[in-house]
Amino acid sequence: MGKKITFSPPDITKEEINEVVKVLESGWITSGPKVAQFEEEMKKYCNANYAVALGSATAGMELILKVFDIKEGDEVITTPYTYTATANIIVHRGIKPTFVDVEKDSFIIDIEKIEKAITPKTKAIITVDIAGVPVDYDKVKAILKKLGREDIILIADSAHSYGASYKGQKVGAQYDFHVFSFHAVKNLTTAEGGGITYNDNNFHGKEDLLRELKITSLQGQSKDAFSKMKAGAWQYDILTDGFKCNMTDLQAAIGVVQMKRYEGMLEHRRKIFEVYTNALKEKEWAIVPVAKNEMMETSYHLYTLRIKGFEEENRNAVIQTLAEKDIATNVHFIPLPMFTLYKNLGYKIEDYPNAYNQYKNEITLPVYSTLSLEDADYLVKELIKAVESNM
Ligand SMILES: Cc1ncc(COP(=O)(O)O)c(C=O)c1O
Repeated sequence: MGKKITFSPPDITKEEINEVVKVLESGWITSGPKVAQFEEEMKKYCNANYAVALGSATAGMELILKVFDIKEGDEVITTPYTYTATANIIVHRGIKPTFVDVEKDSFIIDIEKIEKAITPKTKAIITVDIAGVPVDYDKVKAILKKLGREDIILIADSAHSYGASYKGQKVGAQYDFHVFSFHAVKNLTTAEGGGITYNDNNFHGKEDLLRELKITSLQGQSKDAFSKMKAGAWQYDILTDGFKCNMTDLQAAIGVVQMKRYEGMLEHRRKIFEVYTNALKEKEWAIVPVAKNEMMETSYHLYTLRIKGFEEENRNAVIQTLAEKDIATNVHFIPLPMFTLYKNLGYKIEDYPNAYNQYKNEITLPVYSTLSLEDADYLVKELIKAVESNM
């Protein structure tokens, strides 16, 4: 038996622990000064004008749909090649998502096909930066411009792409909104958490979008708990039927330290990618993920390997062989039309052949900042053996 390799444990040091303890001792543990600090750091890192920290990326995306009153009768376009969160939030708003298949041989939504899916009812488009690879944002924007439909709200599900770059700039200020996840398995974690970044605080005629997002993330209450607890400041109003999806100072304390460590963490992820790609590039059967090109650099979130000629059974057998050696791999993603919820909504995987072809032979190799390069090397060698013995 070799070493045990898990999929994506969090990278938490004494420094994060100390910061959390300080918050616990401070007398204020929910949203307050640490959240404000975390938002400042996020804003700076992403070169965006505004940032809102929240309980999750899911909440962030739904909050945007709510604030712009996107609801039953409207249409929202997205991809079936994503985690269910991206589409669930559309369903929550009473809308059946308009799925546009991914481009052939790509994990990313087919941008050309977005154009055909737009109707007069389209209110938003949510594209997904799968595995940390940014979508060609300018290309999507150019379609809306050409159609005279710049009223359509562009949301990047950037759950995976914190720290990725697009045309030389960090991801976070390209679309109308970027929504990041800081869930435990993400590159930068706050245990659970998410964040929205954007540039225009008067977007779509809003008087103060930041205030509206904040209020709507806290029950629609006109004052947050931190301001309300000041002596004499007991009065408040309820302005809308808001959600309850604020980030706590405990979470933000972890995030502030992770932010400080993040460039180093990213650099280690880059090296893991290199170990995998160096071992796999000579293999005729390996379709390795592109980490960097003239347009983008990934955030190195997931190593999405595909194996030429494999069907689901071969891929599953490789995962099983590795699991028996205590090596965890994964699949990103099972296309949404393959799940019961979406089947019941009337979707069929046959209508998304490119998504299925990406899925059937995909194996995600673990990438995380506490995975040593020696372990990455051991893992990829075991993977090669497992693939070649299942051919
Ligand atoms: C592509 C994608 N979008 C959204 C989410 C939701 O993120 P969160 O768990 O922070 O709500 C995830 C989480 O795994 C994801 O992978």
